[in-house]
Amino acid sequence: MKKLIGLDKVKTAVFISGTGSNLKNLIKFSLKKNSPISINLVISNKKNAKGLKYVNQKKIEKKIINFIKTKESEKKILNLLIKKKIAFICLAGFMKILSNNFLKRFNGKVINIHPSLLPKYKGLNTHKRVLKNNEKFSGCTVHYVAARLDAGKIILQKKIKIAKTDKENTLKNKILREEHKLYPKAIKKIFN
Ligand code: GAR
Repeated sequence: MKKLIGLDKVKTAVFISGTGSNLKNLIKFSLKKNSPISINLVISNKKNAKGLKYVNQKKIEKKIINFIKTKESEKKILNLLIKKKIAFICLAGFMKILSNNFLKRFNGKVINIHPSLLPKYKGLNTHKRVLKNNEKFSGCTVHYVAARLDAGKIILQKKIKIAKTDKENTLKNKILREEHKLYPKAIKKIFN
């Protein structure tokens, strides 16, 4: 990825579907002087995604795109991204799969965070499956988004030990705390 020139931050869009704790964290990070990105647009496929409240608080532009028809939705998004001169996309709990065509247009500029040690446990219900398999470790991964689900090149990964007492919820929260540290670190790694 191209190095930052001068003090310009890279115009970034964050895509969400739900709670938005990673979005909240990325907004906080983006406002720091040493952050390479600014968040200029948030896209949600759900109109009542909880995460949208952070956007309202910080007066960031938001757009709800329902994704019922992927092709049309992506076209709308692309137009908006071009209009807003967005150069980078962070997926943060965005539960829709972007098409090959869309990814080609933003080649190498879309990243995602996933709550497992990829390539293990791609897809949904990660924590449940990890616990069911009696894994000793889990973690989170920031990776480039490729056409195949959760399969793009890994940027950074954090491993954590699973406690015997961990349930789906405690593991989820433990990993979320790590996600909030890992996502900004990965973004810095890309641009510095
Ligand atoms: C996070 O744990 C993120 O890693 C996961 O959804 C959660 C969103 O939480 N993403 C995926 O599973 C993508 N395949 P948040 O809305 O509080 O950021």
